[in-house]
Amino acid sequence: MRRPLIAGNWKMYKTIGEAMDFVARLKPLVADASHCELVVAPPFTALAAVAATARGSNVRVSAQDVHWDAEGAHTGDVSPRMILDAGATLAIIGHSERRHDHNETDEQVNRKLRAALAAGLEPIVCVGETFEERETGRAAAVLERQFTNGFRGLTSPDFSRIIIAYEPVWAIGTGRTATPEMAAESHAKLRSLAREGFGSENAEGLRILYGGSVKPENIRGLMAQPEIDGALVGGASLMAESFAAIVHYR
Ligand code: PGA
Repeated sequence: MRRPLIAGNWKMYKTIGEAMDFVARLKPLVADASHCELVVAPPFTALAAVAATARGSNVRVSAQDVHWDAEGAHTGDVSPRMILDAGATLAIIGHSERRHDHNETDEQVNRKLRAALAAGLEPIVCVGETFEERETGRAAAVLERQFTNGFRGLTSPDFSRIIIAYEPVWAIGTGRTATPEMAAESHAKLRSLAREGFGSENAEGLRILYGGSVKPENIRGLMAQPEIDGALVGGASLMAESFAAIVHYR
């Protein structure tokens, strides 16, 4: 049985004070949420403060990105060890906004993923097609490319520690959600790629989150799909009340 996971990706929002207020408000709202795992991903500047505020609660903390080197001359980047040092235990890798804003490639995603795993971080790897790729019938091929290149060279034990987020780019921040059936179809595709690459046990254990305009109003329909194991939530994760409503989808 896969344990559902609801993650909030705050992107470039919230100062340290705002982030700490959020966690203080969220904790009592989700204290009884034992049916799922809970994660928030603040910007780097607020990581340590959020981890300290969340300590002892059921809220786990993720970075939004990670560099592949342990240290070095990489201005503006943050290493896996620094993230762990700040108190976070997960890292989002390959979000479409990083692929778009910073030209991140599948190969870089692969390097980041290996570094995160080696350091002991739990990776949430994002994949998903653009509108144009879907319209031209290439959605499945894009997922296959991202999966094959992104997860290249991983061992089965490595793969068992990964969480995937399927985030169709056309649904992110647009208010256009994939229908639960569309999302489930892509999730099934990803699970079959996992089966081919890493065996049935890994495929059955793999958690695949859906991301793209998830809101309190649509989470229930998405979570009703057996293929959907949780959500990566952007906009609707910025207010403690709406994030808590998503967490309490049942
Ligand atoms: P959104 O973002 O919920 O605002 O669409 C999701 C994401 O980018 O992870």
